[in-house]
Amino acid sequence: MLGKLGASVWTSTPFRLAALSIAAFLVTAAGIVGFMFWQTNDLLTEQVLSGLRAEVQELRHMEAAAGSASVAAAIRARARPEGPGLYFFADRTGRKQAGNLSRQPPELTSDGGGTFRYEREAGDERLAVALPVAFPDGTRLLVGRDIEEQRVFANRMRTVFLLGFGLLSAAGLAGGLGAGRLLLNRIDQINAASRSIMAGDLSQRVPLAGTQDELDGLADNLNAMLDRIEQLMGGLREVSDNIAHDLKTPLSRLRNRAEATLRDGGGDCDAYRAGLERIIEEADELIKTFNAMLLVARLEAGALDGQAEPFDIGGLVRDVAEFYEPLADEQGLALTVAAEDGPEVVGNRHLINQAVANLIDNAIKYGRPEPPVAGSSITVRLSVVGDTVEIAVGDQGPGISADDRERALKRFVRLEASRTKPGTGLGLSLVAAVARLHHGTVRLEDNAPGLRAVLVLPRARQGISA
Ligand SMILES: Nc1ncnc2c1ncn2[C@@H]1O[C@H](COP(=O)(O)OP(=O)(O)O)[C@@H](O)[C@H]1O
Ligand SMILES: [Mg+2]
Repeated sequence: MLGKLGASVWTSTPFRLAALSIAAFLVTAAGIVGFMFWQTNDLLTEQVLSGLRAEVQELRHMEAAAGSASVAAAIRARARPEGPGLYFFADRTGRKQAGNLSRQPPELTSDGGGTFRYEREAGDERLAVALPVAFPDGTRLLVGRDIEEQRVFANRMRTVFLLGFGLLSAAGLAGGLGAGRLLLNRIDQINAASRSIMAGDLSQRVPLAGTQDELDGLADNLNAMLDRIEQLMGGLREVSDNIAHDLKTPLSRLRNRAEATLRDGGGDCDAYRAGLERIIEEADELIKTFNAMLLVARLEAGALDGQAEPFDIGGLVRDVAEFYEPLADEQGLALTVAAEDGPEVVGNRHLINQAVANLIDNAIKYGRPEPPVAGSSITVRLSVVGDTVEIAVGDQGPGISADDRERALKRFVRLEASRTKPGTGLGLSLVAAVARLHHGTVRLEDNAPGLRAVLVLPRARQGISA
């Protein structure tokens, strides 16, 4: 079975693709931003630390030169309550002698520097970094810097990035969901159409959105395929209908003839012989119809492969016309031919011969004016038009009305006016099949009066043979 209607948008391909690409994007972006963040923080911290080291160095020199009392004095001068520089100077018992820090931060061990928290005012806890110094006389100094602003900046950056990533993911997922929904809607439509077609309505077609995108392309191809299937089904139905109709009549005629011969022969050998001869004639007609039908079917299904050769079409047209001249004379029709030697076509000579013969045969059979007009003629003309040759057979009969011309080319079609004349209705369809096989066409035109049937075939290119 096909997938059920309304498949979940969460499992749709566009949504999954969107989610996947967002995940990949987030991981990469988080890596890059994290690295940047770490580097910036590191740089800022390094800057603070090198400032601290320089100051520690300076104070050590001062202590070596003038003793710790001068350091204490310098600290007193430097330590401002709101300044970024933080100091804690203690005597050997740990009691504070100078500085703006109220106590030795408990997070810091005496031999290593690091970050700690301190209170500038009550409730205003801030982050700082400090380096400890121990002087030879047992006094100790802590030199620090307030880095609260750096911390706030870092926090704000983190928030901005988190918010940004959140927004990005939400927008990406929403986009994926939207795209998934759109696509699913259209696929559901295609599925619904397929289902009703499978249920038997071959005339239905997949709807197009008119956006000319890949799905429209798919729908277009599906529709073209359905057209073809419908056409083939129609052809099949037509053929079986036609076989039923067109072979049933001659078969029953054959049977009736045999019955009549038996009934009316009365033991007379000559009567039986005559009857049997009629039966053989009928059977021959039937076989001819069968052969024509098989030939048309084979030509319609097949290709020329290997049976094509270049030949002079002018000679062929003249030969066929010559062959039909006596028949035309018999009917009181003058047959004139205008076909020069020279133009060549590549194809199957016998099939093209048959096609031209069918056209001339029709002109003789149906091309007599009613009522008869003296001197009416049939003209067979070969002309070169661009890359093609046109073989036109014109008569001055009743012609075929414009509405019926297309239909007359179909298998077994015999127009109402011709019912009384012998024929199978396969002649023109064979011409059409031969034309198609040779990449040519057939046109039925008004010959004013009469019909002009034109067989158009591609001309063989000079110097190129099959
Ligand atoms: N030259 C023509 N003038 C008038 N009608 C024609 C002509 N050629 C063909 N037709 C019509 O087209 C129909 C189909 O022709 P065709 O396929 O040759 O079958 P058939 O000759 O066996 O009847 C004919 O039955 C006839 O009604
Ligand atoms: Mg015919």
